[in-house]
Amino acid sequence: MTHPSNSNIDIVKSNTSKIENVDFDNLTFGRTFTDHMFVCDFIDGKWQQPKIMPYQAMTFEPSARVFHYGQAVFEGMKAFKDDAGKVWLFRPEENHKRINISSARLAMPEFPKDYFLDGLEALLKLDKDWIKPGVGNSLYLRPFVIATEPAISASPANMYRFMIICSPAKAYYSGKVRVLFAEKYSRSADGGVGFAKAAGNYAAQFYPTSLAQEKGYQQIIWTDASTHEFLEEAGTMNIFFRINDTLVTAPISDRILDGITRKSIIQLAEDNNVPVEVRRVPVSEIKEAARNGSLKEIFGAGTAAVISPISAFEHGNEVFELPEMENAYATMFKKELLNIQHNLSDDKHGWRREV
Ligand code: COI
Repeated sequence: MTHPSNSNIDIVKSNTSKIENVDFDNLTFGRTFTDHMFVCDFIDGKWQQPKIMPYQAMTFEPSARVFHYGQAVFEGMKAFKDDAGKVWLFRPEENHKRINISSARLAMPEFPKDYFLDGLEALLKLDKDWIKPGVGNSLYLRPFVIATEPAISASPANMYRFMIICSPAKAYYSGKVRVLFAEKYSRSADGGVGFAKAAGNYAAQFYPTSLAQEKGYQQIIWTDASTHEFLEEAGTMNIFFRINDTLVTAPISDRILDGITRKSIIQLAEDNNVPVEVRRVPVSEIKEAARNGSLKEIFGAGTAAVISPISAFEHGNEVFELPEMENAYATMFKKELLNIQHNLSDDKHGWRREV
């Protein structure tokens, strides 16, 4: 892919800041945005001059392909500030790799790595006051790409916009999460787009999730589409099960997002000599383990959600409440992960990147 030889970014700074109006102790996830955003257009077969500009509304023709065919992918990542005021990203190269994997699946152009990393860095330098220090605070970063070409024939666009917007964040889920195991609807299928962070993957979950919410469950744990007998992921999170002392999670496939938090937890478990099994997870095994007491924990893992313990699940009209665990893996891995992210502990795998 051709692109200008370096990612000099045109920067137009905002004359005013909205930061004074933000109550950083009471943030609803994804509702507040910083003063600037990063924008880069793909036109005539190449990525154009990247820009940073004040966060603002944008206009698109109603015929822009994204509105008709959902040609859109995104990423979720976070920046952290340590007590010395240094700003850190967590495994940003992984997000870059993954957005390009997602884009390729949706017939969209790959975005250059230097633009991605330099764009993030320049944006975070401008909006660094929006990152509050302290474990529990972060700046959620949302890179995304949409098809902007004004044309409604059902084929890939030849114009795209890559953007990054930033939103100060605290917890995604407050408190413990109750889940329903999917028995009817599916999130993804073999040969499909489940592994991609395609916008439509999320939209397709909203209706079944709203049915689950009516029954008092925040999330669905999706099962394989063909048999509904194996547990896969939760849509906003990958899922881990602790059976006795072993951590079990489903393998990455066409149907499951290759979560960066997921792979970090697998590594942390190995570092702590916690046995990990990456294998298919039968619903029947988890129900049996819940009955016989060997199911100690279920937790979700994702960038926004970090690590979210699951307190109960329902399947086949049976509800299983999980025990409160002392020394829960969820608590231990969450602490280790946050300490690495906030520069409070060694980073032996080289996951932190200073901005
Ligand atoms: C993330 O964890 O960053 C995600 O992309 C999930 C999103 C639906 C909040």
